[in-house]
This record gives sequence, C-alpha cells and structure tokens, in this order.
Amino acid sequence: MKKTVLITGSSRGIGRATAKKFALEGYNVIINYHKSKDKALSLLEELLSSGANAIAVQADVSDRKQVEAMFEEGYKKFGNIDVLVNNAGIADMTLFTDITQEQWKRIFDVNVNGMFNCCQCVLPKMISEKAGRIINISSIWGLVGASCEAHYSATKGAIISFTKALAKELGPSNILVNAVAPGAVDTDMIAGVSEEIREIIKDETPLEIICKPEQIANVVYFLATDEAYLITGQIINASAGFVIC
Ligand SMILES: NC(=O)c1ccc[n+]([C@@H]2O[C@H](COP(=O)([O-])OP(=O)(O)OC[C@H]3O[C@@H](n4cnc5c(N)ncnc54)[C@H](OP(=O)(O)O)[C@@H]3O)[C@@H](O)[C@H]2O)c1
Repeated sequence: MKKTVLITGSSRGIGRATAKKFALEGYNVIINYHKSKDKALSLLEELLSSGANAIAVQADVSDRKQVEAMFEEGYKKFGNIDVLVNNAGIADMTLFTDITQEQWKRIFDVNVNGMFNCCQCVLPKMISEKAGRIINISSIWGLVGASCEAHYSATKGAIISFTKALAKELGPSNILVNAVAPGAVDTDMIAGVSEEIREIIKDETPLEIICKPEQIANVVYFLATDEAYLITGQIINASAGFVIC
C-alpha cells in the first residue's frame, strides 16, 4: 500500500518542494495551506497530473478544530498518515523591546502550537500502528539565536527540545521524531532580504550558497526513508555550513 504524508504549510516554499519530493517518491500527499489557496490548488493540479494521489486541505494549524478536520479528511481519503512534516511557520524581524504581546502569541500559536495540534491528531493512529515518522522544521536560529528575532528563535528552540523529548517518548512505539534546522533558504520568507545581505550570507557560508527549498526537501525526505531508521531525536542542521555548532 502507498504511504501517505501530510505536510503543513505546503502551498509555498519548503513545504511545497517537500510535497513535490514525496509525490515523486510515490507517496500520497496531503497538502495543507492557510491563505494561499490558488498556490495550493496549482500544486494539487501539478501532483495529480504527474500521476500522484493528493488532496489539498485548508487549515490554520493554530486552530485545533481546523486541524482535527484536516486530519479527519486525510484519514478518510487515504486511510493512514505515515509521515507528518510540521513545516508551517511564520517569521518576523522586530527589536525585542518592540515585540507586542500579540506578535509573541501569534508566532508561538503557529510555529509551536500548530506542531502540538498536528502531533496530537496524528499520534493515536501512529501509536496503534506502531509506526510513523514526524519531521519538524526548526531553524539554525533555534540552535544559536538571531538578533531581532528573539520570538522566532524561541519558537524554533522550542521545536528542538520538543523533538528530542517526543523522540524519547515515542521510540518504544517505533515512531521516529526528528527536526531539520535550515539556514537561509530561498523562499518568500527571505524575500525581503536585500541583495547585499544575501551576498554577505553567501560569503559567510562555507558552501557559498543560499539553500534551495528542494535541497531542504531532500533532507526531510531522507528522514522518512528506511535508510534513516537509526536516526531519532536529532536536529539535522541543513545550512550548507552557515552555522556549525
Ligand atoms: N526560508 C528560510 O530561510 C527558512 C530558514 C529556516 C527555517 N525555515 C522554516 O521553514 C518553514 C517553511 O518556511 P518557508 O521559507 O517555506 O516559508 P514561506 O515560503 O513563507 O511559506 C510558509 C508556509 O507556511 C504556511 N503557513 C503559515 N502560517 C500558517 C498557518 N497558520 N497554518 C497553516 N499554514 C501556514 C504558508 O501557507 P499559506 O501561504 O497558505 O498561508 C506557507 O505555505 C518554516 O517553519 C520556517 O520557519 C525557513
């Protein structure tokens, strides 16, 4: 039977590239989007016309009821969800003293509580099946912190410790939990970064590149393969060496 992956925030960027990679590898794909309906539907069309099985489901990951409805739809369509990729995320650059309580709450609601909601919805079945993979998208800023992104860095750090804790709890149920911590990736998230800063990032990166979403997708996919079976509770730094720690 074909395996199924659910990727949150797969209308654009890293999530979109990850959806394409899993589809190419023969997975049924549940595309999740929040606001970018047209982009999600164009991806759905692309996957279906390539012969893959896929559906697109609108849900704000921070909203528990919407997340429950999304998983219900996914199970109804494909029967099982073998891999969950918690990718949906928002970023923001604000001086710490200017961060409002609303900004702080919203970034945690999406980046951390969204992951919590999705994990709680997928795990009962994974535990009863004694199989599953959860791959969370963190960031190098979760490892080392970024100036003017204290709120974002805090969410990405929370993802890291959550990943390690959950991997310990779920190992006996044969469920592997890992995170990928990308460096700068060429998506809408860094669209506001000037050409000058992009050059500085490249200069400070040993591989002298800005990563492509497809390259992150390859790392995410690897963690779902049989070859990665011994890897759990790990944070895979996929930053082309931009951060080495
Ligand atoms: N790009 C980077 O340099 C970089 C570096 C390190 C880590 N990351 C992490 O990688 C992940 C993906 O980032 P990206 O660069 O691909 O960002 P992106 O291009 O801005 O795409 C973000 C995706 O998340 C979705 N999303 C946002 N809020 C959502 C919500 N409340 N519910 C459901 N989906 C939601 C968006 O969906 P809609 O458009 O449909 O609303 C979109 O598909 C994020 O967790 C980010 O923190 C990115």
